Amino acid sequence: MAFEPVLTRGIGELDLTDLKVYRAQGGYQALEKALRELAPGDVVQMVTDSGLRGRGGAGFPAGKKWSFLPDDGRPRYLVCNADESEPGTFKDRLLIEHHPHQLIEGIVLAAYAVQAVQAFIYLRGEFLEGYRVLQRALAQARDAGYVGRNILGSGFDLEIVVHRGAGAYICGEETGLLSSLQGGRGEPRLKPPFPAVAGLYGMPTVVNNVETLSCVPHIVARGPEWFRSIGPETSPGPKIFSVSGHVVRPGNYELPMGVPLAELIFEHAGGLRPGRRVKAVLPGGGSSPALTADHLDVPLDFDSVAQAGSMLGSGAVMVLDDTTCIVKAAYVLARFFAAESCGQCTPCREGTSWVARILGRIEAGQGRPEDLEVLKSLPGQMAGRTICPFSDASVGFLSSTLIHFEDEYLAHIERGACQVREVRSA
Ligand SMILES: Cc1cc2nc3c(=O)[nH]c(=O)nc-3n(C[C@H](O)[C@H](O)[C@H](O)COP(=O)(O)O)c2cc1C
Ligand code: SF4
Repeated sequence: MAFEPVLTRGIGELDLTDLKVYRAQGGYQALEKALRELAPGDVVQMVTDSGLRGRGGAGFPAGKKWSFLPDDGRPRYLVCNADESEPGTFKDRLLIEHHPHQLIEGIVLAAYAVQAVQAFIYLRGEFLEGYRVLQRALAQARDAGYVGRNILGSGFDLEIVVHRGAGAYICGEETGLLSSLQGGRGEPRLKPPFPAVAGLYGMPTVVNNVETLSCVPHIVARGPEWFRSIGPETSPGPKIFSVSGHVVRPGNYELPMGVPLAELIFEHAGGLRPGRRVKAVLPGGGSSPALTADHLDVPLDFDSVAQAGSMLGSGAVMVLDDTTCIVKAAYVLARFFAAESCGQCTPCREGTSWVARILGRIEAGQGRPEDLEVLKSLPGQMAGRTICPFSDASVGFLSSTLIHFEDEYLAHIERGACQVREVRSA
């Protein structure tokens, strides 16, 4: 039986940015139900029972995160992470620009569940269209009584503020985001304390991704068992995969978690161009180690992808075919990470910059024999030694390609030439 989309249903056919259209599709009924029939703790329990894991990258169980907030009378905040800057990820943008009320409903439900006094949407600065769409949808939701004071006569108050970032990848990391939201530099800090205990303005704060929050109205409306019935036991629910690279039909595909990589690439994204083969796949955006053609049967869920040696991350599947120079791909990503490091930690600041310089040299055919050993030693010096996981992530793809594609690095260094040019002209 074909999978019925949940989060993207109606996108491309209906104008779901219009409150009337969203309501005609059953929109805001979950919120009405929750405010009428459910205590805040019931909503937390439903989300916990659903098994929903965060869609922002780490896959942390949402209900568990919500239940960590200390019950000490301090004000609580909810922050929606809409920074979406991971290379290859463009699913949150789709939900923001085409389904804003689903997100707003999810935010109000989550805020009700954790009894937040105020919610923020931290929006990637470049998403100007998303900003306009959200502002319009918020105005409609306020007028209709879904946001603001005494929501639907329940006594629950919630204002939602949209805050635009200024184009820094590191502001997607939750502590960097919170610092930026408070007007500080977008610099991560050590955890613990986690935002649940000391977040925005030092208060208990839940940070959740756009896609995570967009799942919540459906869980409340259709129940946790329904959500659990989709996908594998340990990573249930629908998932939007952003597919890019050398496929015939790049785009967002909503499928059950656990869909095999081959099915996503060949059945949904139209496969590769004629005569081409899969060389490498980054299953979780630019931060994820490469999988190879030997991994095409891997189910795309958090645990299976981790077992295969990579990470699902945000579900941004980047496909590289056999015309790709792996050294060049690693160089392109390395330049991105060198530019985006916030610079607080020496291993990250210096390491990302050296990796980019060495890869640039190798790619240009001027590599030195000792470069490979230096590159192999760098990840060990950069991973697990810094304030945030950016440094580890920056060398994920490089490390995996030094294992799977060492011959390409050697060819560049020894012959000063790229093997792939020979593949292309064959
Ligand atoms: C370098 C870095 C960048 C990140 N960028 C994003 C991002 O753009 N969007 C996002 O939702 N989470 C991002 N995260 C993850 C957040 O720190 C956080 O875990 C997430 O927003 C929690 O939401 P979730 O539990 O719903 O997934 C990033 C993490 C790191 C280390
Ligand atoms: S690891 Fe890199 S990005 Fe993260 S805090 Fe340190 S310097 Fe900044």
